[in-house]
Amino acid sequence: MTFSRRDFVKTSVLGAVAAGVGAQAQDKGKDTSEEAQSGSRKRPIIVCANNGFNYLDDGFAFLKSGGDTLDAALRVVKGPEDDPNDDSVGLGGLPNEEGVVELDACCMHGPTRRAGSVGGVRNIKNVSLAAKAVMTHTGHVMLVGEGAERFAVAMGHPRENLLTEHSRKIWLLWKEFHSTDDWWGPGLADPHWQAPAAKPGDGKPQSELHPEIGREHIQNLQARAADLGIEPEHQLAAVRTVLFPPTGTIHCSALNEKGEISGCTTTSGLAFKLPGRCGDSPIIGAGCYTDQDVGSAGATGSGEENIKVAGAHTIIENMRHGMSPQEAGIDALKRIVRNYNGDMNKLRFLDMTYYILRKDGAYAGVSLWEGYSKGHPHKIAIHDGNRRAEVCVNLLKGYSQEFPPFPEIPEELKNSSEYMK
Ligand code: GLY
Repeated sequence: MTFSRRDFVKTSVLGAVAAGVGAQAQDKGKDTSEEAQSGSRKRPIIVCANNGFNYLDDGFAFLKSGGDTLDAALRVVKGPEDDPNDDSVGLGGLPNEEGVVELDACCMHGPTRRAGSVGGVRNIKNVSLAAKAVMTHTGHVMLVGEGAERFAVAMGHPRENLLTEHSRKIWLLWKEFHSTDDWWGPGLADPHWQAPAAKPGDGKPQSELHPEIGREHIQNLQARAADLGIEPEHQLAAVRTVLFPPTGTIHCSALNEKGEISGCTTTSGLAFKLPGRCGDSPIIGAGCYTDQDVGSAGATGSGEENIKVAGAHTIIENMRHGMSPQEAGIDALKRIVRNYNGDMNKLRFLDMTYYILRKDGAYAGVSLWEGYSKGHPHKIAIHDGNRRAEVCVNLLKGYSQEFPPFPEIPEELKNSSEYMK
């Protein structure tokens, strides 16, 4: 008897949601004390999305030597922004549907209770620093588009082409081969949205489609990737990006010995988005929120969903009212589940990870799903004198598939290291 992931999700996950208990804590019989759910309590401490792991040493040394908490967090996120090989933020970020890189960022400085944000910025690599400049050099909180770009240039940021050859080729692959199920038309939240498998002329649930359909599609894409000059070792990863446009992002929060706390989030947003689309990352209260009295939180994942639950702000308010960091994050995730009435056929196309740091140094990483694929769990990176990455506590068992949906990926490809590069 085969037991699909969807069946498993239906039968086991909603029970965990209904019971109001985080899946990992419940299933593994773990110690659910607040301490165990929220990490150790040390100060100073920095937490961030796992793509900031390599930059934590520098940020932590700066923080420990008395550096400002926001500047410490910005040092961490600047690493991936500058890295042309990180296609989720800054230079080399995956572009919009027209092949233009558009970046979003925001920051909050706890000690002075200030905020800055930029959205839809082109040609400026370090948008996290531009967001800080909005905070420190203007009477505004948010600048977008061309005005934000001109402001960044006035602040000394150079204009540069952010589209690397690698990202351009992946975009071209998408452009030439993307599905007719693209970002135009009704989204998941629309009452008339239908899963592709339910469309007329199809009839079968996606899980019952012949796996060869997926294999053929992937093989075509891989051949085209080769034609476009994508190196063999990067071809399957490019195919994955085209099949499941990612929402890569980095968030970082930093807390010093005095209890001062700040946070920032930066992203190239959803790959192949409509020009002008802003996700949650530049939205104060969604992609990042810091309250000097409580803590700091930020997000990576499906920006549209996070905006609708004001995720980072919800988490801070939950902690203000007594929840542990883990409980606060799981509650925000449950609001996303609630927005779809627990419909796993829709939720499996979404994902969300929250990085949460309370003012006393307790922290948590929580995610909607275990990860995008088996063996690649969502992680939170931490530095409190000991740099490490920890697997997030997931609300739902299983792995997300990002929107727009495509035929099932054969298991052996899904789990290959090349596909997940
Ligand atoms: N969370 C990043 C985005 O959706 O743009």
